[in-house]
Amino acid sequence: MSRTLRIEPLGRTVAVEEGTTLLEAALAQGIKLRSSCRNGTCRECIAQLTEGRVRYRIEWPGLSPDEKAEGFTLPCVALAETDVVLLQPRAELKD
Ligand code: FES
Repeated sequence: MSRTLRIEPLGRTVAVEEGTTLLEAALAQGIKLRSSCRNGTCRECIAQLTEGRVRYRIEWPGLSPDEKAEGFTLPCVALAETDVVLLQPRAELKD
C-alpha cells in the first residue's frame, strides 16, 4: 500500500511505495533532498519527522536516542509506516 510523504516548507507531497525509502521516493518524484552514503551512516540526509511513523531498512541507523526522541530521521533508510511529513528546509525542486 502506498503512503504519502509531504516535505515542508516546500509544501510538496509525493507517493511512497512499499519498500521505497523516503529519499528514493522524493528523488524519483522531482524533489532533491541532500544525501551521500544512502545507507544510514553519514547523516547528510538527516531531517525531522513532524508527523507519522517510519521504520528502518537497517538495524542501527546513525541517530542518537535523543535525536530519535526529537523526531529526527534518516530518509535514506526510512520506510513510511503511515503517511508522513518531513521538515527539511534544504529540500528543493529538481531542475
Ligand atoms: S545519506 Fe547518509 S545517512 Fe542518509
